[in-house]
Amino acid sequence: MRTAVTFQELNEALDELNRPVGFVPTMGCLHEGHLSLVRAAKEQNESVVVSIFINPTQFAQGEDLENYPKDIDCDLELLEEEGTDLIWMPSSGDMYPEGYQTYVDVNDLTGFLEGRFRPTHFRGVTTVVAKLFNTLRPERAYFGQKDAQQAAVIKQMVRDLNYPIEIVICPIVRENDGLAMSSRNSYLTDTERKAALCLSRGLNAAQKAYLEGENDADNLRKVVRTEIEREKIARVQYISCAHPDTLEELNGDVVSCLLSLSVFIGSTRLIDNIQLGVEG
Ligand code: PAJ
Repeated sequence: MRTAVTFQELNEALDELNRPVGFVPTMGCLHEGHLSLVRAAKEQNESVVVSIFINPTQFAQGEDLENYPKDIDCDLELLEEEGTDLIWMPSSGDMYPEGYQTYVDVNDLTGFLEGRFRPTHFRGVTTVVAKLFNTLRPERAYFGQKDAQQAAVIKQMVRDLNYPIEIVICPIVRENDGLAMSSRNSYLTDTERKAALCLSRGLNAAQKAYLEGENDADNLRKVVRTEIEREKIARVQYISCAHPDTLEELNGDVVSCLLSLSVFIGSTRLIDNIQLGVEG
């Protein structure tokens, strides 16, 4: 396994990789969710490249950039075990040198869901992912359904900007009790960790209702809300029942949808989602 920090180190290492290359962008503090992407990339490509970069442009003022969890030694060990070929850990100064002023913006899709509460977030994500793609030129790139809107936005960017890259979206990996894995789960106290189960409980309750014939969008949102509001320390930011591709909020009967939500457990903001009536 090779590691690169500078562009020069990266380019030297890239020259020696067998193609096709599968790429997994991350912000580190890796867990089984990230590793599932690495395994998928390993299966489908000759080489796997993982980037670890806590991207400042996707954090707004007051978000958790400074406290974002880091454990680089553990990350390197996990990635070695998975047979990763190359890890790229660029510095902020190299990615955004002084005077940096170019951004990639996906319009409509970023206005919904997360975008309503984090208006500058996706601009940061698409900008950094475009820069990573431009530098690495992978044949495939792997993203998690955990961040459903991010996955949709990246697919849109790749279509719109003609990147010759196949985007592969992998399923959400959960803890045994249902909590979706996230680097931010490490912020939770024991009590909060238990309370955080209300997110997956709410989504599961709506899935059950849907499978039993409930397909009114508002009722599905209500099923999720009722379950979450049983948990006293949970504070709902949004609960959405949206079109799985356009992400527009739905009303009336739905055939398929993306049910997604953001909930504060104490001061930790968690997101989760489930697709209903969507194949694959
Ligand atoms: P990060 O939060 O580190 O996540 C990296 C990738 O892992 C993303 O594609 C995310 O959706 C996926 N992932 C996280 N938790 C998962 C889970 N429980 N199951 C499956 N996949 C999971 O997302 C980012 O970083 C950044 O925005 C990034 C794309 C790297 C750009 O900076």
